[in-house]
Amino acid sequence: MRKFTMVLCAATMLLCYACKEQTVPAIIDDNPQKNVAMENLLTRRSVRQYTDQVPPMDVIEEICKAGTYAPTGMNRQSPIIIAVINREMRDSLSRLNARVLENDSIDPFYGAPVVLVVLADSSAHTYLEDGSLVMGNLMNAAHAKGLGSCWIHRAKEVFESEEGKQILADLGIEGNYVGIGNCILGYTAGDYPEAKPRKENWVYWVK
Ligand SMILES: Cc1cc2nc3c(=O)[nH]c(=O)nc-3n(C[C@H](O)[C@H](O)[C@H](O)COP(=O)(O)O)c2cc1C
Repeated sequence: MRKFTMVLCAATMLLCYACKEQTVPAIIDDNPQKNVAMENLLTRRSVRQYTDQVPPMDVIEEICKAGTYAPTGMNRQSPIIIAVINREMRDSLSRLNARVLENDSIDPFYGAPVVLVVLADSSAHTYLEDGSLVMGNLMNAAHAKGLGSCWIHRAKEVFESEEGKQILADLGIEGNYVGIGNCILGYTAGDYPEAKPRKENWVYWVK
């Protein structure tokens, strides 16, 4: 009798485990979209060499759209994106960025033809996080669309400068907007970069 009870218990435990395995994770794992998304997240890299070719407008628009769907604190949607395709403006932003680096002889945008500037309204207490998530969406969407991208910093300093403020004013952008980052975009030239090894102890498990 005792043996029978033990076998029954083991069988019940096995059944429970099997049921558990087949419910929540199976639904997600069988979804091919999820794997495409995972692959995209794992293979995006910062690209620092571009061709001059401007990507099609509809692709740039889709990438911007992905940016606008980033989560934001209390759904304040504090960030904005300035999508710069205009060469003159792209070059001005590059010059202002290089000036922050105190090196006028470089193009911090690595020749990328398009720049998506993300700013966020600092009156929202999560503006920095909101803007950073937009940047992440833009870079991942660019990769999904077959384009190279890279976060280029110093947007904060650029839009604190008089020239930067004038650019916002000329675009009719008013408010407490702080530069978060520049997402440069274009077709990758040369080899696609490889991921650096991940550091140890990225994840501390509490099971
Ligand atoms: C907040 C932030 C600022 C960055 N600023 C620059 C930058 O100014 N110039 C640059 O070449 N890359 C910049 N990067 C890109 C990082 O160097 C890059 O993400 C990192 O080396 C890891 O490489 P991966 O993106 O290919 O995984 C920045 C990234 C982040 C998140």
